[in-house]
Amino acid sequence: MSDRRDFFGKALGAFAGLGALGALYAAKRTWDPLPSVKAAGYTTIDLSQAQENVLYTEMWRGKPIFVLKVPKKDKKAYDDPRLIKVGGEKFFIAIGLCTHLGCIPAYYPDQYKFICACHGGQFNAAGEVLKAPPPSPLVIPPFKVEGKKVVLGETSPEYEKLKEAGLVS
Ligand code: FES
Repeated sequence: MSDRRDFFGKALGAFAGLGALGALYAAKRTWDPLPSVKAAGYTTIDLSQAQENVLYTEMWRGKPIFVLKVPKKDKKAYDDPRLIKVGGEKFFIAIGLCTHLGCIPAYYPDQYKFICACHGGQFNAAGEVLKAPPPSPLVIPPFKVEGKKVVLGETSPEYEKLKEAGLVS
């Protein structure tokens, strides 16, 4: 009897171990940064390997930058004019600081939204406010698209167009 229990105990342990490995692998994939180069106020991010609905966090001028290949399933966010087109795909790229008091919101891929733990503010996958207190959308930094890369800190006709339309501050 105790042999059977040992067997089930070991089998259960091995199964749990595999599950933990799977979770670690999924988490690692999320943590893997995109290839990027930083130089004197500019950050160049290669978006060619970005996966849909996975949030990547980069740094630009000491601030966290959110990079999200917006999931097509999230129709409303996917059609948002603030998204940046890179290599035929649509990306949401913004400074990852809540526009209320500057906390870093977390992305919930299953809900396609950012939730700020500080005071409960929420943003959709295109950075638009879903729930107050944030007074305005997440801020898009100056950007320039170069092939499948985006350069942060450099302006471009696309960025100026968003600015003229009042879609970036
Ligand atoms: Fe994000 Fe207040 S800082 S809701």
